[in-house]
Amino acid sequence: MFYSDEIVEEIRAKSDIVAVISGYVSLKKKGSNHWGCCPFHNEKTPSFAVSESKQMYHCFGCGESGSVFTFLMKYENYSFPEAIRVLADRAGVKLPEIEYSEEQKQRANRRQRLLDVNKDAATFFYYQLRKNPHGEVGLAYLRKRELTEETMKKFGLGYAGKNGSELVQYLRQKGYRDEEIRDAGVATFSERGGLSSQFWNRVMFPIQDVNHRVIGFGGRVMGDGEPKYLNSPETDIFDKRRNLYGLNYARTARAGNVILCEGYMDVIAMHQAGFGQAVASLGTAFTPEQAHLIHRYAEQVLLAYDSDGAGVKAALRAIGILRNEGLTAKVINMRPYKDPDEFMKALGHEAFQERIDQAENSFFYEIRMLEANYNLKDPEEKTKFHREIAAKLCTFEEEVERENYLQAIAEKYYIGVDNLRKLVVNYAGKGLVTPAAKPKSGVQSKSGQDGATRAQKLLITWIADYYETIYPKIKPYVTAEDFTDELCAQVAERMFAAIEKGKFQPAEIISTFEDEVTQKEAAEIFYEVLPAVETIQEKEQALHDVIYAVKKNSYEHFKQKQSDRDISAITKVLEGKKALLALEKLHISLE
Ligand code: UTP
Ligand code: MN
Repeated sequence: MFYSDEIVEEIRAKSDIVAVISGYVSLKKKGSNHWGCCPFHNEKTPSFAVSESKQMYHCFGCGESGSVFTFLMKYENYSFPEAIRVLADRAGVKLPEIEYSEEQKQRANRRQRLLDVNKDAATFFYYQLRKNPHGEVGLAYLRKRELTEETMKKFGLGYAGKNGSELVQYLRQKGYRDEEIRDAGVATFSERGGLSSQFWNRVMFPIQDVNHRVIGFGGRVMGDGEPKYLNSPETDIFDKRRNLYGLNYARTARAGNVILCEGYMDVIAMHQAGFGQAVASLGTAFTPEQAHLIHRYAEQVLLAYDSDGAGVKAALRAIGILRNEGLTAKVINMRPYKDPDEFMKALGHEAFQERIDQAENSFFYEIRMLEANYNLKDPEEKTKFHREIAAKLCTFEEEVERENYLQAIAEKYYIGVDNLRKLVVNYAGKGLVTPAAKPKSGVQSKSGQDGATRAQKLLITWIADYYETIYPKIKPYVTAEDFTDELCAQVAERMFAAIEKGKFQPAEIISTFEDEVTQKEAAEIFYEVLPAVETIQEKEQALHDVIYAVKKNSYEHFKQKQSDRDISAITKVLEGKKALLALEKLHISLE
């Protein structure tokens, strides 16, 4: 259900954010913001700021931010259309029966069709498992894996049928066009066989988004065979980087943590055993987007990866990603069992709860894994190990935290505290930051997110905050295409267009994004913390550094995209480089 951009904007404009939020949170004006205690996390001193001029809110404690729409969506758990209706009512705006722009209508229709195909495919698989005699092998397999009927039902497990054509026939009967069936990811075209589903003779695991909508499938062979799991490809509705298996249930588990596993079966076994907070990444490596998604529901992640070498490697990777997202992580030891599924079958709920209680702090885990690479009896290797520890300690930005870890590790590994501190100081001085990300310009990543993306966000915040003075000055040098981060590029494009039109309002840009998660992410872009600078010169320098960082990154991307067969590529790259060099010396005056 969509309303036109115009009506959305009318409602937004008539719903003053300070007035609306005042209905929920007690606010006090201080400086250019209204401050209150954040309703989205527990706090006693106000760090929740509502800006009248930006028509946005931002919490400096937990990072929540957004527009009047996202506030209601988050606070009242409304969908976007619901928030619109409530605010329209409040503002006395009469909503048209249905208001669609042509493009929105098409996009929404297409997404809806792809969702429908997946939903109907899930229904088909579901009944194949239960009502079709062929499905008995599937049912037998799932029972052998000790799943109860209730669990199978909860996760909508199914069976794919004897061959790849039954599903296609079923979907055609339901009225779907072949292209739709293909684009939904449940079948492929081939010259010989026509349209046919890649899923057959497998037990099927529907993959759902946080709103319980089926967006894809994983299908497992029964017994041995390759590939063990066959998954839907990425489609317009299935973005593997931004979804987690089981999160639709885990999000309301309220366990205070999320348990991150490797596989479908792990999640299902955990839920069956009473750990409803278990999720898994989808047959791909864990991503920063998934960490961000988890952060909406929990602060702590317990890693329950396989105990083998690959599992350790994946865990170490995930720890880095979780830390960058600002989540705390612990590692659950599953030995002697391979994965949560096997553990649960062998020892059950209570034993697993004990393992949760004993879960190891992720930093200690990292160091312990590092240790295995060195022979500590050899002085030289021991020194190298200590250097590695120092390097790791450098990743803590907060001094207190770093010092606490430093002391704990020194004690654990019998290193003199002062010696270790000296090593860390040495290491920290080694200038790890690239020239484009000098700390004084504020471009260096705070949360560890990549410097280029942070520079792009900073530049957007900057332009948004001072668009009347800054935009005309940077316009000759920066275009929306320079933003390589996808969301930044969209925000920049819409922002530049709005400024050009003379009606720019960050909150308006935010509400042009369709779903809640993207709106929130877009809102955050407008709230990067600008570097604390005092003099005009410092400000000019900082702005210059940010622009340079954005352009340099844009140039690097451009360079990578060039084909080595294209003769003009070298010229183009050299020209890009020349422009960049000129930019290095560019002076943008802010006086
Ligand atoms: P595992 O090989 O550890 O499988 O892969 P598992 O979860 O223990 O599965 P069971 O217990 O043998 O049934 C972990 C996850 O990696 C993805 C799947 O998401 C799987 O759950 N995977 C694995 C694939 O996508 N394709 C494969 O061929 C194998
Ligand atoms: Mn397994």
